[in-house]
Amino acid sequence: MNNGEIQAAWKYHDGTKHSPWSIRNHPHFLDWANRPLPFKIYPKIEPLPLPRDVPQTGVAALSAISEPVSSPREDLIPGVQDLARLLYFSAGITKERAHPGGEIYFRAAACTGALYEIELYLVTGDLPGLDAGVYHFSPADVSLRRLQKGDFRGTLAQATAMEPAVVHAPTTIICTGTYWRNAWKYQARTYRHFGWDNGTLLANMLAVAAASGLPAEVVLGFVDAQVNRLLDLDTRREVALCLVPIGGRSQSSVPAPREVPVLGLETMPLSQHEVEYPAMLAMHDASSLGSEAEVAQWRGQQPILPCSVPAGDEVQLLRLPEEERPKDTIEQVILRRGSSRTFDQTASITQTQLSTILDCATRGLAADFLEPPGVQLNDLYLIAHSVQGLKPGAYFFQRERNTLDLLKEGDFRAEAYHLGLEQQLPADACLDIFFLADLERILEQYGNRGYRAVQLEAGTIGGRMYLAAYAQRLGATGLTFFDDDVISFFSPHAKGKSAIFLLAIGKPLGKGTAIARQSDVAKS
Ligand SMILES: Cc1cc2nc3c(=O)[nH]c(=O)nc-3n(C[C@H](O)[C@H](O)[C@H](O)COP(=O)(O)O)c2cc1C
Repeated sequence: MNNGEIQAAWKYHDGTKHSPWSIRNHPHFLDWANRPLPFKIYPKIEPLPLPRDVPQTGVAALSAISEPVSSPREDLIPGVQDLARLLYFSAGITKERAHPGGEIYFRAAACTGALYEIELYLVTGDLPGLDAGVYHFSPADVSLRRLQKGDFRGTLAQATAMEPAVVHAPTTIICTGTYWRNAWKYQARTYRHFGWDNGTLLANMLAVAAASGLPAEVVLGFVDAQVNRLLDLDTRREVALCLVPIGGRSQSSVPAPREVPVLGLETMPLSQHEVEYPAMLAMHDASSLGSEAEVAQWRGQQPILPCSVPAGDEVQLLRLPEEERPKDTIEQVILRRGSSRTFDQTASITQTQLSTILDCATRGLAADFLEPPGVQLNDLYLIAHSVQGLKPGAYFFQRERNTLDLLKEGDFRAEAYHLGLEQQLPADACLDIFFLADLERILEQYGNRGYRAVQLEAGTIGGRMYLAAYAQRLGATGLTFFDDDVISFFSPHAKGKSAIFLLAIGKPLGKGTAIARQSDVAKS
């Protein structure tokens, strides 16, 4: 199957939609005795502990998420402390809670079901405090484990068809997805979750890189098989999702590509037995790029133009002057974040709080599939329940004009309850932000890989919204949804689009653990 045969992405997308019918007719029960290990463990490789007392950046979260560091004229080389900060605040354990099914180790970024299927690796040249090699990051003991010795950046750069950010990077982080760790609960929908959960983690990583003064961007164009081989992945279980080159040199220091030895490293089984979901393997295969020529051609696609369907009355959003924005640092906000389990239905947020969230989260993602900078694949639709100065109703966010266009006025808490898979959270929130995309245009342009791109972009913007909400001492939670009902609700404006992601924002009511209230197995 090749990337251009886009019926593959449609088949996966349509086949994994939630509907009231699918939830009723395909219940799935969790087999706690077969619950997967939350970590990838290499039993025979010695850990290289990372420093734990790394200096804080002191940079305000709202600046860190919205102001990336541009390409350097001077060399910007991360040291081992920078790497420790980046890895910990992206994927590190920030909280631990007892649960009847076993201890839950909550991490820095939100993740469906707290199942943490995204793993991080490092392909690096020599850095201050770290020898060149290919490493795996273990959040369990905040350590690296070396899988390959030597500088493989040339091999990685070749796999990306010499993408400039990778060619100039002293080090590149690679994010992978482990199917079973998430599919244990979500079955074939996990391939969507790869994009969501990788995205929330990227929001943290890009923000911490910016706060550390290091350029970073997302690279989605690479020859899959070459990167998977470099990381010694068993591709029926785990696959590379994206690359994040970190730092930069004015001159490339990348060595020539080299032969990658086959390692076959031992890892601990995740469960007594794993279930394979062929729909996801097929989706991944169909969105894989097979050669450097294909990668180069894929990256050169024309941009998707913003959606400009005229809507009703518009509300001009006002931006809070930079100096009046809350100044909590990115580290404080990441440590404070935790998905809200209940919202106060009597509370409201201000219009400037909402506008700060939308502004900070949508200033553009530095990514090889989004050229020129500022292009966005996802359109944002809102249901506002209680935002001061906004009539309750459904809106479309015009990013270029910074306006909210009223689509229909009304109290839609009951509808939000239904659309968010009959959960109370979207009904009690102050507002719900739905990410919708013109999948037809995206797939036509990017092929099946566009499906990976649109999910990943949504997760990253959603992750930034989480951070922007918590920076303002609000609460947020990602949610899942009834796909087609979301589109009907926002139609005719949304006609022909597909539902990609959902985030609720509000004022949290009391405390609770993310897992404790998730009794319904279909919900994340
Ligand atoms: C994309 C996404 C979808 C989610 N969907 C739901 C949901 O439908 N219901 C729910 O209660 N929590 C949902 N969550 C919240 C997760 O359960 C939560 O992130 C996870 O338990 C980790 O906890 P933390 O975010 O507090 O660190 C979602 C999170 C994400 C990132």
